[in-house]
Formats: sequence, C-alpha cells, structure tokens
Amino acid sequence: MKALTWHGRRDVRVDDVPDPRIEQPTDAIIRVTSSGLCGSDLHLYEVLGPFLDAGDVLGHEPMGIVEEVGAEVGHIRPGDRVVIPFNISCGHCFMCDHGLQTQCETTQVREEGMGAALFGYTRLYGQVPGGQAEYLRVPQAQYGPIKVPQGPDDDRFLFLSDVLPTAWQAVQYAEIPDGGSVAVIGLGPIGEMATRIAQHLGAGQVIGLDLVPERLARSGAHGVHTIDVSAVDSVPEAVRELSNGRGPDAVIDAVGMEAHGAPGGKLAHTLAGLMPDAITRKVMETAGVDRLSAFSTAVEIVRRGGTISLSGVYGGTADPLNMLQIFDKQLTLRMGQANVKRWIDDILPLLTGPDDPLGVEGFATHHVPLTEAPAAYETFQKKEDGAFKVVFKP
Ligand SMILES: NC(=O)c1ccc[n+]([C@@H]2O[C@H](COP(=O)([O-])OP(=O)(O)OC[C@H]3O[C@@H](n4cnc5c(N)ncnc54)[C@H](O)[C@@H]3O)[C@@H](O)[C@H]2O)c1
Ligand SMILES: [Zn+2]
Ligand SMILES: [Zn+2]
Repeated sequence: MKALTWHGRRDVRVDDVPDPRIEQPTDAIIRVTSSGLCGSDLHLYEVLGPFLDAGDVLGHEPMGIVEEVGAEVGHIRPGDRVVIPFNISCGHCFMCDHGLQTQCETTQVREEGMGAALFGYTRLYGQVPGGQAEYLRVPQAQYGPIKVPQGPDDDRFLFLSDVLPTAWQAVQYAEIPDGGSVAVIGLGPIGEMATRIAQHLGAGQVIGLDLVPERLARSGAHGVHTIDVSAVDSVPEAVRELSNGRGPDAVIDAVGMEAHGAPGGKLAHTLAGLMPDAITRKVMETAGVDRLSAFSTAVEIVRRGGTISLSGVYGGTADPLNMLQIFDKQLTLRMGQANVKRWIDDILPLLTGPDDPLGVEGFATHHVPLTEAPAAYETFQKKEDGAFKVVFKP
C-alpha cells in the first residue's frame, strides 16, 4: 500500500510499504478514507526527528471502513464506518476506568517511561505505524474505534479522532466559570475549535491570540475577540484591557513547544537537528528546552487565581518556568494529551443534527490526495495558501 513516511527533518515521502495485517485477536484493519494532518505532525517534521526512524509511517487522525477484525473484536464489523482515536487504549484498565485513556496501563510505553501508545508518533509513543496511509492496523480495536453513521461526508466525523476531543478537553480543563472569560493562545485547528466549544458551552467572553491574518479572521468571523500578537506593543496589556484590567478567568495554550518568539529554544531545536540521533535523544531527554513563549504569555495574562489549560504539546525536560509568578498568582495548571474516548458521548450528538453547532463542515481548508502529502506538509508548516486544516484522501 501507499503510506506517508518520515525520512528526516522536513523530508516526508509517499512510499510503498507492506499492507498491514491482523497480528492480535484484538486488532482490526481499516481502509482509510480520510486522514488529518495535525500541528502535532509538524513537531515530527521539525524537532522530534531524533525519536523517529526513516520509514516510520505518520498520521494519527484517520477514519475509514472496517475491512477485517480479529477474533476478540465485537463492537465493529467489516463494512462499518469508524473514526480512530489518536491514542491507543484498552478500555478496561485502572486508567481507562478513570477516563485517563492517555495513561492506559495496557498500552503504556514503559521502555520509554511514557503514557499510552499513539498512532504515528515516535518511539516515545510506541512507534506504531500511523494513519496517513491506505490501510491501518488498529490495535485494541475491541475498544478504540468509534462507530459513526453512514451518509454525511467524512468531515462531519473525522475530527473526533483528535481536534474535537482535544479542544473539548482543553475547555473542560480550563474550568471557565459560568459566563466567564477565556483567552485562547494559538488559533490553529485546536485553538479555533476550543473557541467554538467555549462559546457553545456558554463562556461569556472568548479572546483569541495568533499572528496569522487568515486565522485571526476565521476566529473573528464567529465572534471571537481577536488580538494579533505581532501587532500590539504589549500582549498582556491588550488582553487585560479587554478583561476588566484583571485578565481572563482561564487561558488555553493551543500553541505548544514551537511557539514563535523564543530564540533560546529555537537554537536548542536547531542543534537537535544537527547532532547524531543517539546523542540528541539523551540531550533532549535530560536537558531539552521548549520554546516557552506561549506558556509564559498564559502565565502572564491569566487573572490571579485563574486556570491555565495546556493542550499544545511540550516535550522539554529542563524548561525554565516562572515559578515565582505561577506560585504568587495562585494558578491552577491542567494539561495533557486528550483522553479521546472520554469525551465522545458528549461530542457525538453535536455532529449528527442538521445545525452543526461546532462548524465541522467547512472546517478543513484542503482535501488532497495522499500522493500530494509531502507538498501539503510544507504548505501547512509555512501556513501558506490559507492552509488551516489539511485532510488526506488516500
Ligand atoms: N493535547 C493533545 O492531545 C493535542 C492534540 C492535537 C494537537 N495538540 C497540540 O496542539 C497545538 C496546536 O495544534 P494545531 O493543530 O492547532 O497546530 P497549528 O500549528 O496549526 O497551530 C498553532 C498556532 O499557534 C500560533 N502561534 C505560534 N506562536 C504563537 C505565539 N507566540 N502567540 C500566539 N500564537 C502563536 C500559530 O500561528 C498557529 O496558528 C500543537 O502543539 C499540537 O501538537 C495537542
Ligand atoms: Zn492530531
Ligand atoms: Zn487501558
């Protein structure tokens, strides 16, 4: 089959790789009909190379049609239409029972000291072949796949794999008081969806920060009060002006480790791309530094006693944090990968009615054949051609 494979920094290719097959009685094979490209994939494209091997298949936002199931898979059958959560979890361990599917004790990557395995996301997360491919082997398929109705376009349901539950969790973790305010830093797919969900769940004021004009305009078009961080003298002042001089009740960081405007981290990331993998892995595991500008902005702008919810991915182990301010302002921090299955029952009803309250139709800007994926990665990274959310059609 054809699959999108990683070969080096900013080097992904469409290769022929062996068709996946059932290996465990809990596996399923799906024929992929749509597969999202995510801001998280850009970290693989740019800075996480030391944790990848040439030929690794990327992609963690797939949906498709079930081709075959193992003997222990009961809830789906060949022909069913399914969305696959980006994290792989068993549904019956202590962590899954507590709604912490990202920490699943059956799939935890213990050799690396990490949580649940993810599709297409480095050896840290189990080096599981991903879903930007024609076919996908789905481990733990007795639990993971989300069955969705036939009929509407894939885009109605595709974002259940990652964007919707990630943004939903970001808003839940932000604990915005009734009618309260939230600022969302980063208006990519995750941040913009978080603004829509916050509005839907009754936030009184939603502020959005980014620096890409099309992205600011998109959020502005559905009632978000946007701030272009590259055009104001002081971001904290601009935010406080909108929120009683006090700052918003909650801040969501939907940027993560590759934020613009943090030269130190940039240098560390560039060095990581130049040294041999074995050495860089050690350096990143013991002294890695993130570009912290988005998180630092969050600490600065949130009101005293407020909550910061991080959905942007961080991976540094030696990040210099402003503990004085975090402690003195008495902040609450919540973060992590999205526990996808935990939120599906809340979200799915919003996707099946005629009114599409979260605007999933029209959310993606680009639908491209898998064979054009390498160019799409580049366009998406450079944020050219209005690329906001790219969906591959294998
Ligand atoms: N927690 C999870 O489960 C989960 C799931 C999916 C994605 N993510 C992470 O969420 C983040 C966002 O994902 P995405 O797909 O929306 O990515 P994206 O790269 O499309 O969006 C990031 C946005 O942040 C903006 N930005 C960069 N620096 C900024 C700054 N200093 N201030 C304000 N805005 C800034 C960029 O212009 C861009 O629009 C990524 O870090 C991704 O890895 C986490
Ligand atoms: Zn994703
Ligand atoms: Zn589990």
